[in-house]
Amino acid sequence: MQAKPKIPRTEDRPSIALVGLMGTGKTTIGRKLAAQIALPFVDADDEIEQAAGMKISEIFERLGEPSFRDGERRVLQRLIGDGPCVISTGGGAFIDRETRAALLKKAVVVWLDADIGTLVERVSRRGNRPLLTGRDPETVLRELAETRRPAYAQAHYRIDSSVGAAHETVDEILRTLTEAGVLC
Ligand code: S3P
Repeated sequence: MQAKPKIPRTEDRPSIALVGLMGTGKTTIGRKLAAQIALPFVDADDEIEQAAGMKISEIFERLGEPSFRDGERRVLQRLIGDGPCVISTGGGAFIDRETRAALLKKAVVVWLDADIGTLVERVSRRGNRPLLTGRDPETVLRELAETRRPAYAQAHYRIDSSVGAAHETVDEILRTLTEAGVLC
């Protein structure tokens, strides 16, 4: 494992946002990354659930996906404004043009990418994702990967999270951001 990065004062630091498909490990990796660089961690999906007083699956079921996306946009705008933290975003957040522009402007955006086989295996461990309900996960993930790739590719950095344990991906992010001068 590499040496711990030297960290500037909190108020001088940008937020780091993790984007990418469901199953890429955004939440697990985001939490570990935040701990390593001593920034608060926020999970956008949790914040949406808190704001709505409902689980995401319930929001999709009762209000529909467009309502979920509206809430997601509002929550992300608030989180970006709240300042320095590590944000794990839901898989569709960065596809929204407004959210993407705001994140690219105000945060360092890291795309966690992984091969479809890895994603299928990971999402099958948790059965509460509304976009997968009643559908074949591999088919959905392939479709989403294809349509969303052009948006994800606009992230500042791309890290492959298929290989190795979460802490290795965190090390890779730290190495990349340190080399780029984002962390020192
Ligand atoms: C979604 C991904 C989910 C959640 C919602 C929609 C998507 O988050 O926001 O179910 O559109 O890909 P995770 O990526 O954390 O699973």
